[in-house]
Amino acid sequence: MSQAPRKILVTSALPYANGSIHLGHLLEHIQTNIWTRFQKMRGHTCFSVCADDAHGTPVMLKAQELGITPEEMVTRTRAEHHQDLLDFDIDYDNYYVTHSDENKLLSETIYNRLNAAGYISKKTINQLYDPEKGMFLPDRFVKGDCPKCGAEDQNGDSCDVCAATYSPTELKNPRSVVSGATPVLKDSEHYFFDLPKFEGMLKDWIQSGAIQSEMANKLQEWFEQGLQQWDISRDAPYFGFEIPNAPGKYFYVWVDAPVGYMASFMNFCAGNNINFDEYWSADSDAELYHFIGKDIMYFHCLFWPAMLEGANYRKPTGVNIHGFVTVNGAKMSKSKGTFIKARTYLEHLNPEYLRYYFASKLNDSVTDIDLNFEDFTQKVNSDLVGKVVNIASRCASFITKKFDGKLSQTILDEALLNEFTHASESIATHFENRQYHHAIREIMALADKANQFIDTQAPWVTIKDPDQQQLTHDVCSMGIHMFRVLSIYLSPVLPDLSQKAQAFLNDEFTWDSAQTTLTGHEINKFKAMLQRVDADKVAAMVDASKENLAVTEDASKAKKKTKKETTPAPKSDNELAPTISFDDFAKVDLRIAKIVSAEHVEGADKLLRLQLDIGAETKQVFAGIKSAYAPEDLAGKLTVMVANLAPRKMRFGMSEGMVLAAGPGGDELYILEPHSGAQPGMRVK
Ligand code: 2FM
Ligand code: ZN
Repeated sequence: MSQAPRKILVTSALPYANGSIHLGHLLEHIQTNIWTRFQKMRGHTCFSVCADDAHGTPVMLKAQELGITPEEMVTRTRAEHHQDLLDFDIDYDNYYVTHSDENKLLSETIYNRLNAAGYISKKTINQLYDPEKGMFLPDRFVKGDCPKCGAEDQNGDSCDVCAATYSPTELKNPRSVVSGATPVLKDSEHYFFDLPKFEGMLKDWIQSGAIQSEMANKLQEWFEQGLQQWDISRDAPYFGFEIPNAPGKYFYVWVDAPVGYMASFMNFCAGNNINFDEYWSADSDAELYHFIGKDIMYFHCLFWPAMLEGANYRKPTGVNIHGFVTVNGAKMSKSKGTFIKARTYLEHLNPEYLRYYFASKLNDSVTDIDLNFEDFTQKVNSDLVGKVVNIASRCASFITKKFDGKLSQTILDEALLNEFTHASESIATHFENRQYHHAIREIMALADKANQFIDTQAPWVTIKDPDQQQLTHDVCSMGIHMFRVLSIYLSPVLPDLSQKAQAFLNDEFTWDSAQTTLTGHEINKFKAMLQRVDADKVAAMVDASKENLAVTEDASKAKKKTKKETTPAPKSDNELAPTISFDDFAKVDLRIAKIVSAEHVEGADKLLRLQLDIGAETKQVFAGIKSAYAPEDLAGKLTVMVANLAPRKMRFGMSEGMVLAAGPGGDELYILEPHSGAQPGMRVK
């Protein structure tokens, strides 16, 4: 049975606040969430925290581009990220932001302690500076010709053509990506953290089993090359925290980002009467795990433990490193439509599919995980719909219709049910060790046994025989018992299915519930628990991801060519578009329109065909509002339309404008309606 209760704190890497959550992020958040849910079900005290990673040059520049403050942008992006994650049932105990009072306090405390202990030094360095923009340029904001092969338009640190690596100061014909100006070299005093002092401690920590052995070997190479002093400061202008007693100098984003784990937890502790020190003091007996991707191992396995050690905090118990996501065997690609954002996925598919698919492939190694759409469709349909849910749907209706909704008092095949309950510890060990694919395999092998049992007993035959009513009752009850145990084991992976199973069974699951049996128990009417994956929806999701790019690419191309005239669309609902002139706004002819008729469009998932009366004429518009409105609810309503939008030829006919609707994303939409008195054709001013 379960071990003594443990105190566990879990984190996922903090997403940057200047882009959307996509499949790559989701692999990690799902991996973390399954592990956290599993620990909670086992009765342990387990908290998970995350946050948006708010600081740094890219965030600062993106906010400038949008014409808003970085604080504003971060607030919106954080809300968007949090909602995306919640919609995947990824329920952190706290989802915070690194631009917070707690993080400032903790970052300063750590820095002050490191400084007092002699681990901080200052040195003047020479760096590329954009004289037009008045800022130092991080490597990725400088481009030029490769110093080795001469290839044009290469990044500041490496050449895509000959693979050479170099320093940005070596680039030929360098230019600032920010302003296009030629950068100049300029001196600046920087602050350094004495990483080499921690070499012995780090070697011990890495060998202690804190990280996977394949990664420990990789880190060995870095020790062989020799650890370097780490540059922890950046000059103003920079969006971040100013370093104490160093005006104009800011902590490099990678200093306060991991401190953000502590800060998010501190914020959670304050509202929940939890003792922060129990989890972070040097002698803490709690466990601390960071889930991260292999690209940020250096920060988590060298700098971060050294900072913690130097500032007298505890080090992580484990850093759990995973590989990247590939789609259909290749890197996620915007042009192929496989760079899929969380929100685009949610608009087309059930999040449980992805949770299950990733779980069925995840293990404790850093191997990349391939999302193959054919395999995805086949696996979800066959395993979840065809095997697991099928067990319940085959047995439940007989129990409801013929046996008063009550399970029988008898366990028909104790040996078989014991196989299910006895698998508990083995499956638990797989979850504990992040060998989710083994857990899923074992659960599905049991599901096969349950289906074989039902096939052999054929309750749909015995139910017809008055002498076999007891047997039929026992067989169907046995099926429900087995379904219940499988649902318990799948709960960390499929929280929604688990909720539905608990409602159906009148039950509340913990991990140990698998050891009890609901003989004689009343259950509820079975309701559909999971739809099959519709391959058309997968294709539509890929298409929609391509469309996203088309908009973005077109906008960015247009921006390059006619920088002054083109206004890029906001990249998400949480971002405001840049300011436009009044003249630009005046070009848009908004009219009150009466919806004369609304009808379904054959072959279109989302569209309704509207005929809109705007006084002088009637216009046909295809509007993507089918998810929110039935056609009969719209006819006769007034709304607002863009009447002078260039007509667009669509698959279903010409669309001659656009109706205005608002919504938070997904299927929730509200068309705009004027106050009474407005008449069709009136201009909206
Ligand atoms: O690589 C990234 O996306 C970073 N924002 C991860 C930060 S993790 C932690 F250190 F905050
Ligand atoms: Zn080159």
